[in-house]
Amino acid sequence: MKHLDLDFPDPCVVVLIGPAGSGKSTLASTWPDTQVLSLDHYRALVSDSAGDQSATGDAVFALFRVFEARLRRGLTSVIDATSTNPADRATILATARRYGVPTAAVIVPTPLPVCLERNAARTGDRHVPEDTVRAQHQAMVATASPARLRQEGFDYAEFAPGLQRLGRLGVLLHRVSDTRRRELGLDGGDGLDGDELLLRRFFGPEIARLATWEDSSDLVTGDDRVVVLEVAGDYRTLAFRRDADGEGNYGFDVLVPCPTDADADDEGECGGPAWLPAYSATDLLRAYDGQHEIGDGLICEGCGYQSEIDHEAADWEAGADNAQEQYPEAIAS
Ligand SMILES: Nc1ncnc2c1ncn2[C@@H]1O[C@H](COP(=O)(O)OP(=O)(O)OP(=O)(O)O)[C@@H](O)[C@H]1O
Ligand SMILES: [Mg+2]
Repeated sequence: MKHLDLDFPDPCVVVLIGPAGSGKSTLASTWPDTQVLSLDHYRALVSDSAGDQSATGDAVFALFRVFEARLRRGLTSVIDATSTNPADRATILATARRYGVPTAAVIVPTPLPVCLERNAARTGDRHVPEDTVRAQHQAMVATASPARLRQEGFDYAEFAPGLQRLGRLGVLLHRVSDTRRRELGLDGGDGLDGDELLLRRFFGPEIARLATWEDSSDLVTGDDRVVVLEVAGDYRTLAFRRDADGEGNYGFDVLVPCPTDADADDEGECGGPAWLPAYSATDLLRAYDGQHEIGDGLICEGCGYQSEIDHEAADWEAGADNAQEQYPEAIAS
């Protein structure tokens, strides 16, 4: 995989040049994360907001501290900032030169209408004023040609579409493929086990890593299993169902209080395990916040309460067996 990189020396300082929305960060993502110094990322680190322009001074300061630390160690860095102004590039060049590390400018010459369209599609703090995008594009066109950049002092300067020989897509695919093979255990290692992959698919990696599968539990029957998500004493219990929908598809339920417990005038609390189907992190969140609704497929194994049944009329004596029978129907609706 390294051989694909040989056209740029290592170490090297790669400076991406292009207006907002030109695709710099997309190109930068083909380098390992630790090598990419993104000004947006540093703005977010110092201000919690990637687009907070008032944080630019602090962000540049922090970025350069890391940049210099990497230069001292003889490491490659990719500077992901617009760098459409010669003054910004001069600071980067002078710093790289102090450590004797070669520099490469890569122009990302995306047409202005495309940058504007992408910018318009961005929301919140990622949206840049249109005039700013125009000015950045104009500055790039006026000052950033390979010949001019070499005059500025770059050792290499090229348009991004002229970098086919570097095979950046290939570099990215090699890295992603290595990671996926490691996760799946195809590299001879243990990989992530099936249980973790399953949780990832439903809820994402952040949640999957909080999970502990119980060896046995009274809460489930048959091949179903219980898994607990816990962090700092805050936890929720899930059930993995081999057959969640009566059609052989598996799925998860999250344990929630029985809704009849909330009825003040009921004669006593049910206290039974009530289960709510959870197909995503958002389903988990709604259950966590108690924002789920009647009709979400909830069923209580204690009292037989089931969503979509008028609980005044429900047979409160219906046991867990009955509830189990009704379950596929409840979540299919
Ligand atoms: N080669 C490409 N093909 C298709 N879409 C692309 C390509 N490169 C970038 N994009 C898309 O364009 C948008 C902007 O890309 P990106 O975030 O990389 O731009 P940027 O130059 O880093 O912008 P900013 O300076 O605002 O951070 C993204 O939605 C990205 O998915
Ligand atoms: Mg970016």
